[in-house]
Amino acid sequence: MEKSKFIWMDGKLTPWDEANVHILTHTLHYGNGVFEGTRAYMTDKGLAIYRLRDHTKRLLNSAKITRITPSYTLEELEEAQLELLRVNDFKSNVYLRPLIYLGYGIMGLHHVNAPVKTAIAAWEWGSYLGDEGLENGIRVKISSFTRNPVSSTMGKAKAAANYLNSQLAKYEAMDAGYEEALLLDEDGFVAEGSGECFFIVRDGVLITPPNDTSLESIT
Ligand SMILES: Cc1ncc(COP(=O)(O)O)c(C=O)c1O
Repeated sequence: MEKSKFIWMDGKLTPWDEANVHILTHTLHYGNGVFEGTRAYMTDKGLAIYRLRDHTKRLLNSAKITRITPSYTLEELEEAQLELLRVNDFKSNVYLRPLIYLGYGIMGLHHVNAPVKTAIAAWEWGSYLGDEGLENGIRVKISSFTRNPVSSTMGKAKAAANYLNSQLAKYEAMDAGYEEALLLDEDGFVAEGSGECFFIVRDGVLITPPNDTSLESIT
């Protein structure tokens, strides 16, 4: 991956190679951490973040769903993301990855006393399924994995733990010679991709499944 200069860690601009955590960081063990994937596009006037507010709101909603009390407000998180773009020397489109996670200090499932930490990384990253995928289309496999139901793993939260399901679905699809997995809900209806929402254009109308069993897509 493309390194950038700084990663924002709880207010501190930390050099990329020094942005480390303790091995007993709670989220590493139990998966309760929430994140976003936000795009900034290079324009004539410099980088412009696409729907920063919506993504930052979804981040805070995810934290609420998984019972993490954020340390920063919506406005503070937005400003931090803007600051990160200013201090790094980006030349092309950028991916922003804010992460609210539980740090080092306690172990065990009851996470309420775990320290809440926030980090934001940003780096230059092309389109998710590659330029070739954009140009030629991709092959998608209906997954044998069911999309996480909201009744068990808080599927509306963009939580690290939910991506185990996505990761295994992606692995299965790639292993079988496809580029992406399409996950169905428990009733067999289309839910979403392993890392993106699903929509079709039919007779000029954009149709997407209800968000009952998928992340509410922004991008
Ligand atoms: C599982 C999943 N669903 C849907 C999306 C789409 O969200 P958005 O379009 O806002 O990036 C993502 C994006 O990362 C995702 O990981």
